[in-house]
Amino acid sequence: MSKTAELIIDGKSYVLPLVEGTENEVGIDISDLLEKTGTITLDLGYKNTGATKSAITFLDGDKGILRYRGYSIEELAEKSNFLEVAHLLIFGELPTQQQYNKFSHDIKTHTLVHEDIKKILDGFPSTAHPMGVLASLFCSQTAFYPESLDPNRSAEGVYLSIVRSLAKMPTFAAWAYKNAVGHPVNYPDNKLDYCARFLKMVFALPAEDYEVDPVVADALDKLLILHADHEQNCSTSTVRIVGSSKASIYSSISAGINALWGPLHGGANQEVIVMLENIKKDGGDTEKWINKAKDKNSGFRLMGFGHRVYKNFDPRAKIIKKAADDVLKKLGVNDPVLEIAQKLEEAALKDPYFVERKLYPNVDFYSGIIYRALGIPVDMFTVMFAMGRLPGWIAQWKEMRENKEPIGRPRQIYTGATLRPYTEITKR
Ligand code: MLT
Repeated sequence: MSKTAELIIDGKSYVLPLVEGTENEVGIDISDLLEKTGTITLDLGYKNTGATKSAITFLDGDKGILRYRGYSIEELAEKSNFLEVAHLLIFGELPTQQQYNKFSHDIKTHTLVHEDIKKILDGFPSTAHPMGVLASLFCSQTAFYPESLDPNRSAEGVYLSIVRSLAKMPTFAAWAYKNAVGHPVNYPDNKLDYCARFLKMVFALPAEDYEVDPVVADALDKLLILHADHEQNCSTSTVRIVGSSKASIYSSISAGINALWGPLHGGANQEVIVMLENIKKDGGDTEKWINKAKDKNSGFRLMGFGHRVYKNFDPRAKIIKKAADDVLKKLGVNDPVLEIAQKLEEAALKDPYFVERKLYPNVDFYSGIIYRALGIPVDMFTVMFAMGRLPGWIAQWKEMRENKEPIGRPRQIYTGATLRPYTEITKR
């Protein structure tokens, strides 16, 4: 017999079915609660609400587990590469050599963006945050590929949109950066792999030769893998809910980019570096700032410590910490801001105050450090996160579409004024 839950409202009992996932997660199915009982559930921030059933990413916040399609993040970060992981997330399986060759060839074929994109870019002042520029350029694809607006697009049409999204993202991201620094844009060099191609578009200048450092390209590839999906986080839920209205893939993902932009979501790694720079400006006394972090009345909060869903440690942070150590060593970076970061990290990992409160350095802490060491400017950190998250957004959008999920439409408990008569303006 299938398992059920009993709900008693005003003495009346209702039986609700339980839904079990492949990793034994249990949910109470309340889809006909309103119809049966006249009540709804209230869950601010949806922290206890499963918005969908998904076969893409498994996360166990207590045990610090993260898996894409059943593969551990540790193994993928060590053995795979970003495009393979993108294929895994989007199509459900790691590609065979032949599938991989086709997928990367198709992506290379579409790296160039329409020349008119430059006109859109020119319309932005150099003060525009690259995330806003990225979201706009991404969404503009609906104008260049109007066929993507068709909600009944064929599987081949959807594949083309997916390939275009992955192919053009690094070009848009690099151009958003060039707009901010006032340099001419670079075109994609298809001789290079995904990450190297992006780095060349960001850093190359017409007046100088530029060679991509393989250490930098490898570190970036690993970072993108670690960020590629994280089940129903804020931006991913946004992509799914926008997509559920049958908006195009480009507008759904552009909405996800905007959600990621917020300092509580993707903007956190940028905040980490801002905090470290402020500590340096103040004289670099880490002891003082650690004490401030412990003092509830100081108003100061350490950025990049602890995580909403990981209660003991963030598995991505473990991998990225090692990558950060390797990159700093290999590049021989000598940066006082990074020294401050290392001291904060040491304190947080040893000091009982932080250990007891599970305030361990998270993925944002280390990604901020690596991006800084790689020479990526602070305003671009969230853009890097968006590049990494793109396969996850695509996979979740595709799953939502293939499962024919209904349009997202949460309810509310109304707390405003009850019916009152209209008052003429002269009498207010
Ligand atoms: C993420 O990777 O999306 C962030 O860690 C935020 C989250 O999962 O809520």
